[in-house]
Amino acid sequence: MFPTAVLTTLCLLAVVSAQQVGTQVAENHPPLPAQTCTASGCTTVQSSVVLDGNWRWLHATNSTTNCYTGNTWDTTLCPDPTTCANNCALDGADYSGTYGITTSGNALTLKFVTGANIGSRVYLMANATSYQPLKLLNQEFSFDVDMSNLGCGLNGALYLSEMPMDGGLTTTNKAGAKYGTGYCDSQCPHDLKFIKGLANIVNWTGAATDPNSGSGSLGTCCNEMDIWEANKNAAAYTPHVCSTAGLTVCNSTTQCGDGDDRDMGICDKDGCDFNSFRMGDQTFLGPGKTVDTNSKFTVVTQFVAPSGTLTAINRLYVQNGKVINNSMTDIAGISPAVNGITDTFCNAQKSAFGDSNSFERLGGLAAMGQALGRGMVLALSVWDDHTAGMYWLDSTYPTDGDVTQPGVLRGPCSTTSGDPKTVESSEGSNQVIFSNIKWGSIGSTYSTTGQPTGTSSSGNTGPTQPPGGGSGGSIPQYQQCGGLQWTGSGTCVSGTTCTVLNPYYSQCL
Ligand SMILES: *[C@@H]1O[C@H](CO)[C@@H](O)[C@H](O)[C@H]1NC(C)=O
Ligand SMILES: *[C@@H]1O[C@H](CO)[C@@H](O)[C@H](O)[C@H]1NC(C)=O
Ligand SMILES: *[C@@H]1O[C@H](CO)[C@@H](O)[C@H](O)[C@H]1NC(C)=O
Ligand SMILES: *[C@@H]1O[C@H](CO)[C@@H](O)[C@H](O)[C@H]1NC(C)=O
Ligand SMILES: *[C@@H]1O[C@H](CO)[C@@H](O)[C@H](O)[C@H]1NC(C)=O
Repeated sequence: MFPTAVLTTLCLLAVVSAQQVGTQVAENHPPLPAQTCTASGCTTVQSSVVLDGNWRWLHATNSTTNCYTGNTWDTTLCPDPTTCANNCALDGADYSGTYGITTSGNALTLKFVTGANIGSRVYLMANATSYQPLKLLNQEFSFDVDMSNLGCGLNGALYLSEMPMDGGLTTTNKAGAKYGTGYCDSQCPHDLKFIKGLANIVNWTGAATDPNSGSGSLGTCCNEMDIWEANKNAAAYTPHVCSTAGLTVCNSTTQCGDGDDRDMGICDKDGCDFNSFRMGDQTFLGPGKTVDTNSKFTVVTQFVAPSGTLTAINRLYVQNGKVINNSMTDIAGISPAVNGITDTFCNAQKSAFGDSNSFERLGGLAAMGQALGRGMVLALSVWDDHTAGMYWLDSTYPTDGDVTQPGVLRGPCSTTSGDPKTVESSEGSNQVIFSNIKWGSIGSTYSTTGQPTGTSSSGNTGPTQPPGGGSGGSIPQYQQCGGLQWTGSGTCVSGTTCTVLNPYYSQCL
């Protein structure tokens, strides 16, 4: 994430208290099954998603009086950070009605504008009270994305943050993961209303261009792996590291890396990005391009760590049953050309583009690997950018930069396209759909012999084989052979039949 998302607060009956828990609206997490895979097949995880606490109604524990309205705190309920946390409750959320968040089968749709709400951020949950711990060191992660209705200035993001798995439960945070608390990322965002059980009310200032957002003196920092930040015109994947493990509160401009202190903070705000357009291939990803964003495709990310230290983050795509390798770099100074992230690539890129290198200063890929090994939380969001118009992703950045200089062009969007006022009105109906989330050993989460992705919306699309399993093959007894949006092909070994066990899983029996 480059700048952080903006949050909306509504006067609705839904809340949990500070981080206490409110009881006006029941909290029901939309189900979003995922799959874990090995070379011999995948099994379904009955996961769900939860809305971040910052989007929720925050009201007095014992009444419906708002603790926070627009971007202002109630000074009676919130005279100081601890009292505020004790007096206020976060309530449950109407996911579809208020926030435009829906799930269907293994697909999650995030609508950009719904009524008064703008954007959203959800986390994958293992069960009612814990985020799903994702430990992806030396593992692979894949998902399908449909960004055909996600334009310039928007970001449909899927990423990992090293948040506490219980949401940071304390005596002043009784809400926890069930209500989406404990967010942090490498931007050390100041817009969180509660951080580590304390209200972020000291020196809280309303945002200049956003009536629903503000920032306090505390920031919430942690390691972040951006697997996907994209709209239909541009995409980047970016590791960002911090000097500390887990959620760390920052409270000074230097520590938080604010403003001119950007390159001094405890987290690397720029990250080491691989954006195909920026890296010299302007024909690779976009509407009608090699990876055609007019329709759905699979994004595969491999966290390569054969000896326990992360050495590379590789990317490939699968669309219409065909594997598409990531684009090669075409930048003077990056030689030989590469199509993945290594420390060598990061250093060469920073040097070629004349960018500062906090990624290396804070530990580079090895540090990212340690966070991946400890376990991170999967965040999915849609947002627009009140700080920099998303120009760093899909346009020219800096917007007044010399476009003949390497690294300045990031995508085809204009340098006025990302103004939040414009996108919130002209692209309000935009949305992103994430589906078919899988993780497991490298090579196990996608099929090289599969049928076109996204051709089936129900039932068994035919058996699959592990990658490299050859064609015309036979799937062994007890292995997966189908399920909702299963993209494999093949048949069960003779003597067994592909049997539907549930909509998500069919097995050779
Ligand atoms: C509600 O809570 C506030 C602060 O915790 C307290 O001052 C007030 O007396 C309570 N009101 C009722 C009706 O319990
Ligand atoms: C919920 O999931 C977490 C993380 O996997 C696990 O540690 C915890 O035991 C689970 N709790 C229940 C009640 O299943
Ligand atoms: C709050 O703002 C005042 C005035 O700018 C400043 O002196 C003080 O250090 C700030 N407090 C914190 C915790 O940032
Ligand atoms: C900032 O945090 C440090 C420890 O991390 C603490 O010692 C200091 O008092 C804090 N300063 C403010 C203004 O909260
Ligand atoms: C894609 O990458 C793989 C692994 O690096 C390589 O074996 C294969 O030849 C590449 N395919 C194409 C079409 O370049």
